[in-house]
Parts: sequence; structure tokens; C-alpha cells
Amino acid sequence: MSTTSTVSASTIDVVFGSAPGKVILFGEHAVVFGQTAIASTIDRGIRVAVTHRAGATDGPVLKSMNAMLPGRSRPDPDGEGPERLREALALLRSLCGDRVRSLSFSVDGAIPAGAGLGSSAALAVALVRGVHEFFDEHIDDAALIERAFAVERVFHGNPSGVDHTTIVSGGVIAYRRDLGSGAATATPVRLARRVPLVVGVAGPHAGTKNAVTALRDRARRHQAHYDHLYAGIGALADAAKGHLERGELAAVGELMDLNQGYLNALGVSTPAIEVLCATARERGALGAKLSGAGGGGAVIALVDDGPDAQGAIVRAFAAAGYAAFATELPASDPSVTNSSRPTSQTTKDPS
Ligand code: MEV
Repeated sequence: MSTTSTVSASTIDVVFGSAPGKVILFGEHAVVFGQTAIASTIDRGIRVAVTHRAGATDGPVLKSMNAMLPGRSRPDPDGEGPERLREALALLRSLCGDRVRSLSFSVDGAIPAGAGLGSSAALAVALVRGVHEFFDEHIDDAALIERAFAVERVFHGNPSGVDHTTIVSGGVIAYRRDLGSGAATATPVRLARRVPLVVGVAGPHAGTKNAVTALRDRARRHQAHYDHLYAGIGALADAAKGHLERGELAAVGELMDLNQGYLNALGVSTPAIEVLCATARERGALGAKLSGAGGGGAVIALVDDGPDAQGAIVRAFAAAGYAAFATELPASDPSVTNSSRPTSQTTKDPS
């Protein structure tokens, strides 16, 4: 790919790059230390509109960022500050060439920023996709993952790669990164039946990079004990893959509760997260846990099929003052999902 080509798409008003958000069903944090994680895309995400600024050489620039739930507008995707965004755009220019300096991006999102739902990885993927779309160039998944990973590093420091790999691959995956070689494997998880979820947002978190760094510091004082916890989480993720593929949702829910116990032990849960998990379980959820870095952010509750089972939990979260929405995991076999069911019931943002 030439990095010095002039803009050939200047007659095009706008092109779009988009990417979904994600949830982590099992294995956040432990995945950074080489354990398996199970993650999935969700049916809402981020869209970047790419336009050309004739004669501009100072960019690329971010024109607007409408994130994410109604009433919320934050200029940074992961609570890391506008400085990180400037760094990410500068990196995009070094990855994609000087021709991007005349581009302008407007971001619209339907996932809350800084909530562990993959907003920064989705932004990275959508930006790279948008640039390639603008120049009418194909980019394969491996190259997209590599470039998005580089941009994602600006936000997260040393991410495991699970977020942007899930977002590029789509669907439900089992992800693992070998710590020695750095090589990552992503295996599709084939759902045997519909998997309904409710997502609640226990407020913004303090950033994935901060959460991972603070955990690493705590772990240094008791490394062997923390390694046991990471291995325990990895074993849950490995077992959950089989349960998901056999449609054993009650077992998946029980393992989610166990995973949440481990996350609490690691110190990444909060009182608000525990309240949301308890609320979901009281309202019939099969299991509940935080999703992502913790310290705030998203809680996911696994819900059994049943009349209004998701709605009852969405309403309970809203009544407790938390934004929430219903969704379901994307099935690789379309016959598994009943598409007539609503998957995006949303409460209003309490902020
Ligand atoms: C963040 O979505 C997941 C973490 O495990 C960080 C990472 O894997 O890079 C907390």
C-alpha cells in the first residue's frame, strides 16, 4: 500500500467505518497472563464518519464524538483523556501514511465510553476500517487486527488483544495469548441455543490501563496466590466453552458467578457492581459478573429464555439508577437466534 498517495476520494462526501462493542463472558484480567477468555461482540457499537478537508495538512482530526448513551458525551473512549486521542490519531497517521492528515472523523456510538464494553477497541477498529474504506482499499482481518492493536495500545498500554480480536472476528470466541511468543489464538464458540443477556452500567471505570497496572502491582506482593486465581479463572473459561456449545446455560451462569467471585478477590469489583450482580440474581438471572476491566463499568447478567425475563432485570437495574439494555450473543448458526425477539431494550441514561 502506498503511504504517499494523494486523496483520490475527494469527490466522496463521507464514508463510514464501523465496529461492534464487546462483552467478556469469562477471563478478563487473567487473559493478560496467558489464560483463556471467552468474549463476544454485541449488537451495538461505534460508527466513524470519514470526510476530507480540502488542503488540510494538520490532521487527522476528530471533529465530534457523540458517545454513547443519550445525554452522555465524552471526548475520550476509555477515560484516558483527550491527549490519548491525539496520540491515537498521530499513530494512525504513521500507520496509514501522510495522506490521512487531511481526514476528519466524526464518531457516533451506541455503547457507553469507559464502561468495559470495548469502546476504545471498537473506535480503533472503526478508525482503521474507515481510513481503508475512504481510500477504497481492502484490508484483511490480520492486518486490521495488527493496526487496531497498535492504536489500542495507546489507550491500554499492554492489552491482551482480546478486545480488538473479538471485535474484528465478530461472534463469540475463545481467546488465548501465549505469553512466551505473543502468538494469539481465537477459536469460534458455536452456541447451541439462544443466549440472552442484560447489560447494566455501574458507572464509568478508571480506565483499563489503570486497572491492569494496579492489579499487576497488587499481585507482585503475593504473586503465587494471584497466579492461582488467574489459573482458576482460566479453568472456568475453558469449561464454559463446552457448556456454551452444549447449550447448558444454567452451568454457564454458575461459572459466571464463580468468575465474579474471583474478580472480587482480585480487587476489581466495586460495591455498585456487586449490587447489580445481586439484583440480577434476585430477579432470576442464571449468573452475573462484571465485564471488562472492572472498577466500575459493565455488568452482564445471563438470562434464561422466558416471557419478559430480560425486561424484569432491565427494569430492576433502571429502578436502582443504572443504565441498562437487553441483548443476546450472536449465534454462528442463524437458526439458533429468534430474530423476532427484541434485543436492544434500553433504559434511559441516569446521568
Ligand atoms: C479489558 O476489556 C480486558 C482486560 O483483560 C484487559 C485486556 O485483556 O487487555 C481487563
